[in-house]
Amino acid sequence: MPNVAPDPLLKVEGITMSFGGIVAIDDLSLTVAPGEILSLMGPNGAGKTTTFHVIAGVHAPDAGRIIFDGQDITRVKPDGRCRAGLARTFQITQPFQELTVEENVMVGALAHNGSMAEARKDARRYVDMVGLADRADVLAKGLSTGQRKRLEMARAMATRPKLLLLDEVTGGVDQKSIPGLIELVQRLRGEGLTLVIIEHNMRVINELADRAIFMNRGVRMAEGTPAEIARHPEVIELYLGEATEHG
Ligand SMILES: Nc1ncnc2c1ncn2[C@@H]1O[C@H](COP(=O)(O)OP(=O)(O)OP(=O)(O)O)[C@@H](O)[C@H]1O
Ligand SMILES: [Mg+2]
Repeated sequence: MPNVAPDPLLKVEGITMSFGGIVAIDDLSLTVAPGEILSLMGPNGAGKTTTFHVIAGVHAPDAGRIIFDGQDITRVKPDGRCRAGLARTFQITQPFQELTVEENVMVGALAHNGSMAEARKDARRYVDMVGLADRADVLAKGLSTGQRKRLEMARAMATRPKLLLLDEVTGGVDQKSIPGLIELVQRLRGEGLTLVIIEHNMRVINELADRAIFMNRGVRMAEGTPAEIARHPEVIELYLGEATEHG
């Protein structure tokens, strides 16, 4: 059998996105293979979160196409992309503060369930999966930062995605919670998920990512394995000093 690479699950083709005079993403292309974990890296303001917004359908790009699972979704609304199997978490977590952990996850589960009972059962499963079983009945506002990141992942998983975009899952989380979050992302991949992670922490990238793309000022500057990226002269110059500040 010839060794044929599978079709990418996600293909971003020549995306450009400006805010007024600021070009946040400049002719960016990337692909993500099924089952892969790709890390998006780059200094503050590089355009990483904007890239997620464009993939998730929050912003329409000025130019370019997004192909997901063989379908051109460039003009599909965010809820349609969610039904197609695309989910994301937010850099600034935004749970419903006055709902419990389980109720928050039910909101995601209702995307695929007609009945409340089914959605509740599903929500329990995802709350367990992310390790929040003992916090299921706590109001979201009572969670620690690390627990809020887990809740975000459960809410996203409850929509049953094929592709999950994680925006700085370890950002602002205390050091001792990081190994548990790494283990959780590995478990999600084990469930058959494909992931794109925005991540600053080189240790996390090394442990999780198959491949990394480094952006600066909206432009893709380097691509390779985490080890290759860490050796890249421009990446070292622009970033690795700063990355150590991020942890
Ligand atoms: N809604 C918006 N309106 C105007 N400018 C924006 C908006 N969102 C992002 N930008 C600008 O686009 C550029 C890219 O921002 P983006 O948030 O994508 O960066 P980032 O790589 O995620 O940075 P960080 O590491 O700080 O999260 C920045 O110059 C930012 O100020
Ligand atoms: Mg960001």
